Amino acid sequence: SAVAAIKAKGELVMLTNAAFPPFEYLGDDQQPAGVDIDVAQAIADELGVELKVVDMEFDGIVPALMAGKGDIGAAGMTVTEERLESVDFSTKYATSSQYMIVKKDSDIATKDDLKGKKIGVQQGTTGDIYATDEDGENGVEAEEVLRYSNAMGAAMALMSDKIDVVIVDELPAKSIVAENDSLKMIDEKLTTEQYAIAVKKDSDLTAEINKVLDKLIADGTIDELILKHTTE
Ligand code: ARG
Repeated sequence: SAVAAIKAKGELVMLTNAAFPPFEYLGDDQQPAGVDIDVAQAIADELGVELKVVDMEFDGIVPALMAGKGDIGAAGMTVTEERLESVDFSTKYATSSQYMIVKKDSDIATKDDLKGKKIGVQQGTTGDIYATDEDGENGVEAEEVLRYSNAMGAAMALMSDKIDVVIVDELPAKSIVAENDSLKMIDEKLTTEQYAIAVKKDSDLTAEINKVLDKLIADGTIDELILKHTTE
């Protein structure tokens, strides 16, 4: 059993990409902090083990989980049909949407204006999937989708006019805009998504995670953590 193995090694290994505030970011001490780290710590506490956080590329998290290089993937990760083919997900603990970030003087005002534009995204995210629009159902028709290792990298490219728009999840988008005067968010939800913790398929760990999550959701802790890591 996965739970027995974690207890035996005395450690829960969390895979994340710490460039996604308030869910995960590097604190002043350069250590990963955020909602997902606090939730994972609560899971580790419940199991009576230490928490180890591994910061990696977002698109490497699911493959690493499948390869047994970590116990949980906690990274503001959206539950998608495609990911469900490779991993299981816990109870959903947050709702989000993709949003557009542009320069304040941009001519982009709605998603219809994405046509022919250069869109920046974090590689392998649902923002990437939305912008790439493989089956054409979003009607994006971008000139090009440029993939960055994190959303901040995409925002830098936007500020230096290498791209026209960034597509990223709501709260990281708010954080980026709050820190960069020349940028604004467009008030239009492109998607509706839910975050959950990814676990290797058919693991007894999922039930343990859900036990902790159900409590943190019901008693308002998740909302408090989002607030705490947004104002910090
Ligand atoms: N919610 C989006 C997705 O699942 C983006 C998550 C990015 N997370 C991160 N820690 N960088 O694809």
